[in-house]
Amino acid sequence: MRDGLSLSQSSLTGLFHFRLLEGEKWRKKEPAILKTHFGSVRPTDERAVLTATAQAQRLLDLLHIMVTEKEVEMIGRTLVDSQQPLKDRFRALFTLRNLGGPAAIDWIGKTFADDSALLKHELAYCLGQMQDERAIPILIEVLQDIREALGAIGNPKVLDILKQYADDPVIEVAETCQLAVKRIEWLQENQDKPITGPYCSVDPAPPAEEVDVGKLRQALLDESRPLFERYRAMFALRNMGGEAAVLALADGLQCDSALFRHEIAYVLGQMQHEAGVPQLTASLESAAENPMVRHECAEALGSIAKASCLATLQTYAQDKERVVRESCEVALDMYNYENGTDFQYADGLSKLKTSD
Ligand SMILES: [Fe+2]
Repeated sequence: MRDGLSLSQSSLTGLFHFRLLEGEKWRKKEPAILKTHFGSVRPTDERAVLTATAQAQRLLDLLHIMVTEKEVEMIGRTLVDSQQPLKDRFRALFTLRNLGGPAAIDWIGKTFADDSALLKHELAYCLGQMQDERAIPILIEVLQDIREALGAIGNPKVLDILKQYADDPVIEVAETCQLAVKRIEWLQENQDKPITGPYCSVDPAPPAEEVDVGKLRQALLDESRPLFERYRAMFALRNMGGEAAVLALADGLQCDSALFRHEIAYVLGQMQHEAGVPQLTASLESAAENPMVRHECAEALGSIAKASCLATLQTYAQDKERVVRESCEVALDMYNYENGTDFQYADGLSKLKTSD
């Protein structure tokens, strides 16, 4: 075969799309494709085919990186664009979280300039879930809003910063930092214990080892115990699942700490069990409840997505609190997703593919 293999961008793109479309058939058709695109390679000349294939593969890898960066950029543009519907920006955010990498982290970081408190709250959540230490500088910069996510990364580098805020006068900030410190310390002491469970979220505490629902419920609701222990009971109940665990957790929506109630609503959303709907609805409807708790109740109802959730979400999509209104808007989109035919919620990539 000739030296200095040269290929036009369009034939590479054609080859790339062919390979995407044909999957494993590619291997069988390789010699014929190479003949078309590489001119002088004879399918019978095995060594020439192998060399051409290796070169083509390197070029294809390069092209793949280019395509991916371009896609990340387009999804990132949707995320930062305050003119886009919030539900599309949420889907873009969760797509970037799944894609990962420095470009995705940058786009999420840029979006902290947005004025939606809900969006910023979810940006921090996603950066924490990505567990990528390249997010640390961004998180430190916007520390006032995002200490919760730092705890989720579980990196000892942030321990000192978290300790500084463990006595913050804002109780939710202090509690978040106390939990994050405990979690990092626990991880350091229990490096050999894998945290397993049916959910893939990174939780602020590992599940308790207790398996008795009654005892876990008691630990969960005992205001005199350290928050970290009560969180451990919470995640043990969640992992256990079933109606009794859901009802025990829902009782936690009456506890003193707003941070704790917010987390209870979050796990009830993860469990997607209808038994939690009345208590979540009551908290969303309560004007006296903290807006961040009401926001999480709305998202939980969107995720449970039963007919019994719909009217409440539609009503509170008009709430006077912006974070509640926006959460209901996002929750209604989640409800539609759960009850519709979309293959995935984080569909930023497939949306790009269909608009090609
Ligand atoms: Fe939340």
